[in-house]
Amino acid sequence: MSALAGNCLGQIRNRHDAVIARVCQLRIHPQLVQAWNWVAIGRFGVGSNQLEDALLDPIAHDVLPAAGLLVDEFPLEPDHIGQQSLGKAVLAHDGNGLVATGRRQLEVTVTADDQKSEALHSRTGLRHGWTRLLEAFGDSGSKRNLPLLLEFEDCAQVHLNCVNEVCRHSASIVPNKLVNMPEITIPNELLPEDGRFGCGPSRVRAAQVAALATEGAKLLGTSHRQAPVKNLVKRVQDGLFDLFHKPEGYEIVLGNGGSTAFWDAAAFSMVERKAQNLVHGEFGAKFATALTNPWLDAPTVINGTPGSRLELKAEAGVDSYAYAQNETSTGVVTPVKRVAGADAGALFFTDATSAAGGIDFDPLQTDVYYFAPQKNFASDGGLWFALMSPAAIERVERIASSGRYIPEFLSVKTAIDNSRLNQTLNTPAIATLFLLAEQVDWINSNGGLGWADARTRAASDHLYEWADASEFANPFVAEPAHRSQVVVTIDFDDSVPAADVAKVLRANGIVDVEPYRKLGRNQLRVATFTATDLAEVQQLTKAIDFVVEAL
Ligand SMILES: Cc1ncc(COP(=O)(O)O)c(C=O)c1O
Repeated sequence: MSALAGNCLGQIRNRHDAVIARVCQLRIHPQLVQAWNWVAIGRFGVGSNQLEDALLDPIAHDVLPAAGLLVDEFPLEPDHIGQQSLGKAVLAHDGNGLVATGRRQLEVTVTADDQKSEALHSRTGLRHGWTRLLEAFGDSGSKRNLPLLLEFEDCAQVHLNCVNEVCRHSASIVPNKLVNMPEITIPNELLPEDGRFGCGPSRVRAAQVAALATEGAKLLGTSHRQAPVKNLVKRVQDGLFDLFHKPEGYEIVLGNGGSTAFWDAAAFSMVERKAQNLVHGEFGAKFATALTNPWLDAPTVINGTPGSRLELKAEAGVDSYAYAQNETSTGVVTPVKRVAGADAGALFFTDATSAAGGIDFDPLQTDVYYFAPQKNFASDGGLWFALMSPAAIERVERIASSGRYIPEFLSVKTAIDNSRLNQTLNTPAIATLFLLAEQVDWINSNGGLGWADARTRAASDHLYEWADASEFANPFVAEPAHRSQVVVTIDFDDSVPAADVAKVLRANGIVDVEPYRKLGRNQLRVATFTATDLAEVQQLTKAIDFVVEAL
């Protein structure tokens, strides 16, 4: 813990309101130390090192960004330990005295692939608008830079995506910007029960987690080559096959690596000579890139503008047609439909990563319906699944025996052979399989894909209707027939900064409604996956209206 965390200054508060702030031995420029009010440290009569170990060990690897924060050491003395009562909520100490006490976020300059600022935030626990975060530690009156305080509550997380290093200046971490957002507390009655609206990973139902902790716990830590886990894989395969309307001769194949791995597996194992890719966003483009390689002819790429889509076209010589059923980056949906006039034997590949389990379809209209389970299936990522037609399986067999070089991990033939034995080539995530099995059974027991489809449609319809009626919002996807029922993208007028709205929502526990980063639009993106009730989305729009009014 110390090695990684050794650099992190944080505060922790447990379920029982014991307020504990903690300094993780930051090395800080000496004069910085003098000028500071001392940070509140918990009720425990132990020194800082003991606090560090005792308090942070249970959450060790869950909380700390893998990259760590490179900061100097804070020479905390036990004398400086005191208790701070709960007061107004803040995420960071305002060392420069620039802002008054209030809920706000701290941004620090970080170096990553692209230099950017990352907000540090408490992911959970603010939803009810309680003063759950610790009080500011007072204004030191110092002009010096401030140490970084990270607050944790229960399962709070530090949101440092792709951060390699927090930049250092003369002393410690130097936050370059305190986002001085107005303190906006969304009233409880406007908040959804569950504030997770992200497009993946997405919300996992409490019942799934509870089942994992009981039934699932019996499987965790046991061999995937033995009957209990193989039965779990079979449960998933059978459940998915039922959900997808049991098309005759089709099989559920699975492997490790998520949909991204499947793209490469398909490039090695399934595309014969040339593909045609329908692209109108990030994920469609990624498959096209995987199919642009030395052993295949360059694919024909039909490039549509993000936010709309074009159509696949019959093309002589094309043996594989590929498209995303739901383009997660833009919220554009494409029907699952074969192209009339395609060469005999041409295969259709449907990237159903964010559609499967939330949009109904006719399986006979495709050959490879592939996905990963972190969207409508409310599980974690890291596995891929594909409903494969007999023609697709025959293609795999043929290419496997053709002498083409295929790495074992990307061999779909190996995946099919293993899937028929209810296992994977290498070790799968058992918890992921279990959460998936629970979600598939839940959907099937409620009425199957038709039920899920109606549910996601109702939730997304509400959002589109709200945006249409709103004075500041519009659906990004102009053509109603292209609008996704599982990923809703809403543009805001220039007068309403969507990023600020998202920040306030996040501070109130409504998370992951930011748009797809590379799209670069003034918009919110909301997942209406199968686990999300209409009522939750209705609360969300009320909350957004409240925030926009208050900003
Ligand atoms: C449509 C689509 N395809 C592919 C992927 C990649 O999935 P994975 O992260 O499992 O590789 C995603 C991820 O969001 C997606 O939305």
